[in-house]
Amino acid sequence: MATWFSASGPEEGLHRMTKNSMLIRPLREDDISICAEMVASAPLWQRYGLTPEIAAKRLQDALANDGLLLVADDGSGKPVGFVWMLRRGAFDLSAYIRWLVVASTQRSKGVGQKLLAAAEAQVQPPVRDVFLLCADFNGDAQRFYEREGYRQMGTIPDYVITGVAEYIYRKRLSPP
Ligand SMILES: CC(C)(COP(=O)(O)OP(=O)(O)OC[C@H]1O[C@@H](n2cnc3c(N)ncnc32)[C@H](O)[C@@H]1OP(=O)(O)O)[C@@H](O)C(=O)NCCC(=O)NCCS
Repeated sequence: MATWFSASGPEEGLHRMTKNSMLIRPLREDDISICAEMVASAPLWQRYGLTPEIAAKRLQDALANDGLLLVADDGSGKPVGFVWMLRRGAFDLSAYIRWLVVASTQRSKGVGQKLLAAAEAQVQPPVRDVFLLCADFNGDAQRFYEREGYRQMGTIPDYVITGVAEYIYRKRLSPP
């Protein structure tokens, strides 16, 4: 039986869809091309030179290497967004959100919030923090993450591409 995820953690069994609900489930091999296209078609990642081929290869590797990959499924089986988290991807100590994207037609409906919450719910002690990077020009995502409890901790200039600074965001999930 498939393992399905809710914002509160993994659960066995299939969740029934309600009209306004969105299933969060593990990403499957056959989701990769849609997810890669979602990333590569976002103006954000086009600025970083990401193509569908590169995105698909990274997702394949992440799937093979135990990355946490969850998709939002509107019930049709087709992903409308996904999150990729490395469980110890920051400083070998904290979780790191590598990619979070929602299809452009499905934004501002709470899908991103659900994906982020589902990824956070998979963080297990002793890991207590989630980190991520957000481009200085991506004001919408900065607002989104701040609303979800992330705090800007610093800036890395010219990190991924020249002329763009990456803001470091952190959320502490549990007290020391
Ligand atoms: C950033 C991103 C993942 C957010 O996903 P999303 O599904 O649009 O996010 P949410 O809907 O949960 O929240 C975003 C907005 O919807 C609103 N919202 C949240 N839940 C809602 C709901 N149930 N109904 C209507 N609106 C809702 C929020 O108020 C928020 O508005 P604001 O940004 O004006 O403050 C998405 O915009 C995206 O894919 N962007 C491009 C890629 C990107 O920048 N990724 C992050 C890289 S660091």
